[in-house]
Amino acid sequence: MSAICIRGPRRLNGMIRIQGSKNAVLPVMAASLLHSGFVELGNVPDIQDVRCMMEILEHLGCVCRLEGHTLTMDTRMARGGAIPEKRARLMRSSIMLMGPMLGRFGRAETVSPGGCSIGRRPIDLHIHALCRLGADIHVEGERIAATAKRLDGTVIRLSYPSVGATENAIMAAVAAEGVTVIEGAAREPEIGTLCLFLREMGATVAGMGTSCLKVHGRQPLHDVAFAIPGDRIVAGTYLGAVIAAGGSAFLAGVPARHLAEPVKLACSMGADCTAHEDGLLVRMERRPGAVGFVTGPYPEFPTDLQSVMMAVDAVADGNARIREMVFEDRFSTAKELQKMGAHIIIDGDMAFVEGVRRLHGARVEARDLRGGAALVTAALAAEGETEISGCQYIERGYEDICRDLGGVGADVSRRVTASPVTPVG
Ligand code: UD1
Repeated sequence: MSAICIRGPRRLNGMIRIQGSKNAVLPVMAASLLHSGFVELGNVPDIQDVRCMMEILEHLGCVCRLEGHTLTMDTRMARGGAIPEKRARLMRSSIMLMGPMLGRFGRAETVSPGGCSIGRRPIDLHIHALCRLGADIHVEGERIAATAKRLDGTVIRLSYPSVGATENAIMAAVAAEGVTVIEGAAREPEIGTLCLFLREMGATVAGMGTSCLKVHGRQPLHDVAFAIPGDRIVAGTYLGAVIAAGGSAFLAGVPARHLAEPVKLACSMGADCTAHEDGLLVRMERRPGAVGFVTGPYPEFPTDLQSVMMAVDAVADGNARIREMVFEDRFSTAKELQKMGAHIIIDGDMAFVEGVRRLHGARVEARDLRGGAALVTAALAAEGETEISGCQYIERGYEDICRDLGGVGADVSRRVTASPVTPVG
């Protein structure tokens, strides 16, 4: 077991190279299964979720190798089967393999997916999309078994723009006979990345960036080399860190246009943000002003940055109201921030934050991935030492948050903490 220890407050200064996007690489890895051949992915983040997806793909017969940030996959011997239960429970993105597995092998088996506990996270929209394409799906308790003799193009209407369901629908549609139209599709940049990857591999996908996607299925696929773009959520986390701690940082390798709403919020809080071709420059020379916001599907404010910006509001001048409209249980970090002296009241999907001049160091626990990043953000601005346990959540999505923040001047280290004693014999 390890904990992240941060001594604050300290201004940040310098450059952070932003890792490849977690939410882009996972569906791209799943989509590789549609092809029988070789796929090479560049700028792959070395994070727990990528390792977990590699293990699942290897279990399904693929050969995966991650060297530095290059992932090579040989999918020729993939044979389908069941997604190992332990891995499926660890990571919600395992559900994304349903579409490509059905498309390539005609069957897929898994259990209800896991991931961070941030809400109910049902999969009805995934099931709806796959059934529309002709899959037969049986859900028995936690077990999900899908079969399809063939998939046929159709019109799929999503009642909510679910990111995962849209991705599953696209991937299954690539293997379906004829044309599939997906209406009400999610528009997150990671969906654009998936479509680009599929196009590079030979698929025909139109409507990228819109809520209506059109896929011409069963085009011949071929080997491909593809680079994963920078992670907008990691970049948004460090944007929040600079606003909370003060200073200036260049966030290199992230498409700044994917951060329009967080940058707008940052500017309202008093930050100076400049978009460059290869990244985003952020400067913060004063105490942030508190600003409220509402989360929603892209292009609205991302739910994945809600807790980080709540941590910024906790040290800002004034009061802010935050409304969480995507995941119902995403305010659990407020309790931990309170241990550091934050004034936050939660009422249903609303959080009321009264900014304080200084938070103080404390022992806190990360309970989900982005909530963990929010505690790191708060700790950078807090007086004294903060020890954040539950690092395994942070490692699901951040390659090395200590390296990144230490590189711009934060006093941050990793400490091994006592682990439970395991009986021998
Ligand atoms: C993805 C992201 C996650 C992000 C989320 C919303 C990945 C790997 N993860 O998760 O980081 O927080 O998008 O931007 O890309 N829903 C249903 N039925 C379904 C599916 C979803 O009701 O079948 C609901 C969910 O409960 C939630 C909302 O839709 O309230 C959004 O979920 P969704 O967009 O599917 O998120 P994920 O794809 O799981």
